Amino acid sequence: LRLCQPFTMLPPAGHLLFLLLVMGTGGTVPRPWGPPRGCYAAEEAGERTFRCSQAGLSAVPTGIPNDTRKLYLDANRLASVPAGAFQHLPVLEELDLSHNILAHLSGAAFRGLAGTLRHLDLSANRLVSVPAEAFMGLQIQVNLSANPWRCDCALQEVLRLVRLAPGTGTGIVCGPGARADLVGQEFLPLAGEEELCGTGWGGAQRSTDVALLVTMGGWLALVVAYLAHYVWQNREETRRPLKRAPVLPVRSEDSSTLSTVV
Ligand SMILES: *[C@@H]1O[C@H](CO)[C@@H](O)[C@H](O)[C@H]1NC(C)=O
Ligand SMILES: *[C@@H]1O[C@H](CO)[C@@H](O)[C@H](O)[C@H]1NC(C)=O
Repeated sequence: LRLCQPFTMLPPAGHLLFLLLVMGTGGTVPRPWGPPRGCYAAEEAGERTFRCSQAGLSAVPTGIPNDTRKLYLDANRLASVPAGAFQHLPVLEELDLSHNILAHLSGAAFRGLAGTLRHLDLSANRLVSVPAEAFMGLQIQVNLSANPWRCDCALQEVLRLVRLAPGTGTGIVCGPGARADLVGQEFLPLAGEEELCGTGWGGAQRSTDVALLVTMGGWLALVVAYLAHYVWQNREETRRPLKRAPVLPVRSEDSSTLSTVV
């Protein structure tokens, strides 16, 4: 009877092993049941909230309820936000992505959230630059503190599109990738003084503007050159008969008067 006991224990042990295997994947593989590991849904101040803080996530988890208004993905290992990462959450108002290792944000990262998203926390990540397109059409308050910003044209454009969360005006500091004289400097006072999109070839829109200006300048120069050439040539042509015209009759007159005299 005692010999049989290990055999009767086998099926539960197998289940346990499977569970351990699934848990060992760190929650990146969506589980077919319930919320992602380390995440839980709650009702906070009457708002549907989904918390995945410190859940060891390396990707935005699937299985987030579509009625979620507040989503906490802070203190994970998220490295990037792909296009449309939250577009299946039509009523999302608040998104916390702080304390991750975010280095890349898609230009369409917040696609589908234009009408609803109000608060976005991107603080304490590894963001060097973010595409301004990602923030177009959004009416949001953001926290951009504690990132190694390159302090480029894109960041200046982002700051024109968003409002900063209260008290986060300081803390947007230029990182080692920034222009030498900007490293370690607070970005906000700088951005107020200097137009980063106007100098150099930083802004794509500015460079197309410059290209247009150069082309137009080229055409203008061509037209002016042609006009100058035309005027110069006409002057040459009008000068020649003018010089000859008074000379010829005088000679003929002279000769005629000479002949008549003679
Ligand atoms: C969530 O999905 C369900 C079923 O797919 C749908 O009936 C419901 O309207 C969705 N809720 C929201 C807020 O979009
Ligand atoms: C902004 O982010 C910093 C760093 O994570 C944090 O200390 C601060 O409390 C945040 N501020 C707001 C208003 O969320």
